[in-house]
Amino acid sequence: MTLFRLDASILPPTSDSRALGDRVEHEWTAAHPDSAVVRRDVATEPISADVWRAAVTGGFTAEDERSPEQREAMAFATTLADELVSADALLFDVPLYNYGPSQHFKTWFDVAYTDSRIDPEGTALRGKPATLVTTIGGNYGPGTPKEGWDHSTPWLRRVLEDVWGLDLRIVKRPFTLVGVNPALDEFADLAASLKEQAEEDATRSGRELAELRSQRSA
Ligand SMILES: Cc1cc2nc3c(=O)[nH]c(=O)nc-3n(C[C@H](O)[C@H](O)[C@H](O)COP(=O)(O)O)c2cc1C
Repeated sequence: MTLFRLDASILPPTSDSRALGDRVEHEWTAAHPDSAVVRRDVATEPISADVWRAAVTGGFTAEDERSPEQREAMAFATTLADELVSADALLFDVPLYNYGPSQHFKTWFDVAYTDSRIDPEGTALRGKPATLVTTIGGNYGPGTPKEGWDHSTPWLRRVLEDVWGLDLRIVKRPFTLVGVNPALDEFADLAASLKEQAEEDATRSGRELAELRSQRSA
């Protein structure tokens, strides 16, 4: 049994998304102690954007005419897709950066998505249990001055749930910069309760992943 875990924080030592992901992983491992955890950190070991170009153009090129770069990129895409297809459950820890998704995650997604097994028409990932953990420095929820400025979570949901067909749950923690940025000090109580809620959601979601996996294998 295998849990695939991806991390995308550019600041791993202080990462709030990693901390929430650790809770999800803890619940998975508690339920499945013999499970392997396959890890991919796309921020500390980033994938060059050129790999995506080579993988896409390689797909447009006859096999015997592909360049070494195209062959290598396509083989790498196969490796990324293998990690997803062979896992029993998936965990993605992806912060918001500059009002959008992590560029490292986007590049990883684009390369993996070139593999025909996870094409939207016949995705091999349909129904696979998955958790997306996302952390956001500010708060762009309903009624806030910058409502709607989170252009990361909606895109992540769209591609993971609707395009790849995952059975997705989302653990979201806004206001992680409260306590770091003094301008946000007035939101200390709200941020504390949002943190607590996200921690509970992470624990519950880890248990759900473990249970869903058990049901699928029963
Ligand atoms: C370079 C950079 C850009 C960021 N841009 C935004 C932003 O546009 N809006 C926001 O609310 N938070 C922003 N943040 C804050 C992160 O979303 C927040 O710190 C989050 O918790 C990071 O996840 P991590 O703790 O797992 O690294 C940014 C952080 C960094 C380092």
